[in-house]
Amino acid sequence: MSKEENIWESRYQAGTTGWDRGATSSNLNYWLKNDLLKPCRILIPGCGNGYEVLTLAQLGFDVIAIDIAPTAIENLQAMLDKESLNAELILDDFFSWNPDAKFDAIFEQTSLCALPPELWEQYETQLHNWLKPKGKVYAQFMQTGRKGGPPYHCELTDMDALFVKDKWRWSDEYISQEKEPGMTELLYLLDKV
Ligand SMILES: C[S@@+](CC[C@H](N)C(=O)[O-])C[C@H]1O[C@@H](n2cnc3c(N)ncnc32)[C@H](O)[C@@H]1O
Repeated sequence: MSKEENIWESRYQAGTTGWDRGATSSNLNYWLKNDLLKPCRILIPGCGNGYEVLTLAQLGFDVIAIDIAPTAIENLQAMLDKESLNAELILDDFFSWNPDAKFDAIFEQTSLCALPPELWEQYETQLHNWLKPKGKVYAQFMQTGRKGGPPYHCELTDMDALFVKDKWRWSDEYISQEKEPGMTELLYLLDKV
């Protein structure tokens, strides 16, 4: 087990998963309710316990979810089995994983902000590579207002600099959800140019 895998796996084993919402996030429900996300081939990188995988599978999406932590993947497979739902679960490091086919959409929920900023460019390259032309990233960038992490503060100017205009088209609007005092999640839609 690599050091990185071990860090995440030990969190799942110890139950120190403060990011886990225990249910499908209101962020995903926002995209669905507003008809911004419709059944397609979708990837969830760093899916964790992956409640969103169940919701999307139930709605007829072709869902592929990847995580480095075996316990997270086992938990998710057990939930899928219990509900007799199908999704493709992959236990791997998303920095080295290359899928056989590209995706229409990616649901990016607190994976980027869980990574140290020095890995963000590598992650953005992967997001871009995984998508079909005109594919979309449904992203939430967390604003912690604090130094250090995880989660790491995703300053919008930094996100702007990361998702450059010749590779990505930013949606004109975003919605902001207060998570806890001082911590906000901004929802953005990014199109691969
Ligand atoms: C903050 S958690 C978010 C989990 C989930 N998206 C959620 O919202 O509950 C970050 C997740 O990314 C996974 N992860 C971190 N680095 C990874 C990597 N290199 N490859 C695959 N998964 C990774 C962790 O195991 C963890 O489940």
